[in-house]
Amino acid sequence: MTPNDLDALLRETRTFAPSEEFRRQANYSDESIYEEAARDPEAYWAKEAEHLTWFQKFESVCRWDPPHAQWFIGGKLNAAYNCVDRHTLNHRKNKAAIIWEGEPGDSRVLTYDMLRREVDKAAHALKQLGVQKGDRVTIYLPMVPELPIAMLACAKIGAMHSVVFGGFSAQALKDRILDAGSKLLITADGGWRRGKVIPLKQNADEAVEGTPIEKVVVVKRVGDAANAPMHAERDVWWHDLIAAAPTKPFPAEPMDSEDYLFLLYTSGTTGKPKGIAHSTGGYLVGVNTSMRTVFDLKDDDVFFCTADIGWVTGHTYIVYGPLSAGATVVMYEGSPDYPDRDRYWAIAEKYGATILYTAPTSIRMFMKWGPQYVEKHDLSTLRLLGSVGEPINPEAWMWYHKYVGQERCPIVDTWWQTETGCAMIAPLPGIVTTKPGSATKPVPGISVDILDDDGNPVPPGHGGNLVITKPWPSMLRTVWGDDERFRKTYFGKFEGIYLPGDGAYRDQDGYYWIVGRLDDVINVSGHRIGTAEVESALVAHPAVAEAAVIGRAHEVKGQAITAFVILKEGQSASDDLVAELKQFVVEQIGAMARPEEIIFAADLPKTRSGKIMRRLLRDIAEGRVVGDTTTLADPAVVEQLKSQYKDQE
Ligand code: WT7
Repeated sequence: MTPNDLDALLRETRTFAPSEEFRRQANYSDESIYEEAARDPEAYWAKEAEHLTWFQKFESVCRWDPPHAQWFIGGKLNAAYNCVDRHTLNHRKNKAAIIWEGEPGDSRVLTYDMLRREVDKAAHALKQLGVQKGDRVTIYLPMVPELPIAMLACAKIGAMHSVVFGGFSAQALKDRILDAGSKLLITADGGWRRGKVIPLKQNADEAVEGTPIEKVVVVKRVGDAANAPMHAERDVWWHDLIAAAPTKPFPAEPMDSEDYLFLLYTSGTTGKPKGIAHSTGGYLVGVNTSMRTVFDLKDDDVFFCTADIGWVTGHTYIVYGPLSAGATVVMYEGSPDYPDRDRYWAIAEKYGATILYTAPTSIRMFMKWGPQYVEKHDLSTLRLLGSVGEPINPEAWMWYHKYVGQERCPIVDTWWQTETGCAMIAPLPGIVTTKPGSATKPVPGISVDILDDDGNPVPPGHGGNLVITKPWPSMLRTVWGDDERFRKTYFGKFEGIYLPGDGAYRDQDGYYWIVGRLDDVINVSGHRIGTAEVESALVAHPAVAEAAVIGRAHEVKGQAITAFVILKEGQSASDDLVAELKQFVVEQIGAMARPEEIIFAADLPKTRSGKIMRRLLRDIAEGRVVGDTTTLADPAVVEQLKSQYKDQE
């Protein structure tokens, strides 16, 4: 596990109880909520569901036919109506919904009323382009206001959006368009990142070839039309569509609770990404609830989540969570070090952020840069901090606590996944005493456990498979187009019990400590990448015969990608080839999958049945004594690899 090591965690004894001041103002300060929810989870969730506006009330709470759950059965609602329209009918009408800051320094504030008008114009425009209830719309946009507007417009029509992170390559976008079967793509002429243009439209042009995409809607962000000319028949400018759209309200489509709200692709253990399908009712109840519980949200909070909307954190904690709860959310387009390394703190100060939600990898980068960038700014409005994406190492936790939270703000370390929809293991900050490095315990209404490979609960201090033992509202409903994969991946190991793929242990106080992935998934800077994806990218190169990819510990990124490559007969290793292979992976997946190092090997350690032993490769890359090699077909391979690794490092 990285960058925490298990021994260090087991020795972690510092505890941080919520201050009296925080506790007094907290939404929840009484432990009884845990028992109450545990006694009757369905009743708990039914009560939480009342915070949403239903066009038709549900008849029953949950039907569990493993691995398929249905929640709020018979209920009808619309996610966009819940995130926007309903807030315009009360005191929030002129409240800021989205405060957006562009990387070059431009900004835009959308009140709930303004957002309602923008979403409705976009919904009219998309409908006129032929988008219908149940269709999939792929969205490949930078972090501009049109991104949440487009998502909400889809939701208003009842179409599913599939947002593809702007860092993905043309090829990765194409794969996701094909899998979803989208006919419409929404993109931009580019996005700003560290003062440079990300060529989204060029990627999009390449991606849509040979897909069912009929129309491409283009947001003008950077004015880069010269590099990405519009195709007369196919492309249309977003601003032209919006200007021509009717200004009358767009009636929200009443969706069944179980109708899908969106697809979001994530990596698994095979080369093919999975389209995680989320429902409308259950997802929205889950995410809305966690705003009140985990994030202690109040009406005057300013919620700053630094994630990109292209990942689940942004879907849930920039769009659907905060907006369904009527919050003010801060959305930033660009890089944390542009123009200087204090950009997040400048933004937090400028807009008076009260809650900040970021990732351990960012915190470790801030530590490296030094506290002076934080100290330059008045962060006295902050009252709560959050962490997500990977295990947070205690040193990073302490730094966050000291310099950003000024020893005043509780930290909620939130464990969850694309599949879970919202935070599953996290403290309720007015109740739970935190320990640096532990996500503490499951949130009310969620049942988790740690099982050994035979399905028996493990005693405190022992590692095992983290599992979720009961269905929950915001759980994924299926893998798009592949229900069998859904069943196998998440319910194949233990019957009727959800397997997230993470290792964890519980301490004597019942606190959960997540140790990292147990499967062949790597977590690079909080981004999930399947080793098989990178391997299949590498073997697609004409010089490569075989590849094995692992994640090794990395100081800032958490894990970095190391690729062991066997070349084809007649090919020779060179620095140029290393550079070429790295670029080849970037082109097929995206920059986040670029291998940190490529090691040319003569052979790979395999079991007698031919399975590559990645554990041994990790030992080599992390410079450890290489573990048990007795099951290897040829134990000599390890010695040979070790010397090859040293030579090429
Ligand atoms: C995987 C899910 C949830 C949004 C971001 C990532 C790891 C996530 C934590 C945490 C330890 C964490 C797990 C999980 N992870 N949060 N607080 N502590 N590990 O979403 O891409 O679906 O990745 O991220 O390994 O399985 P994702």
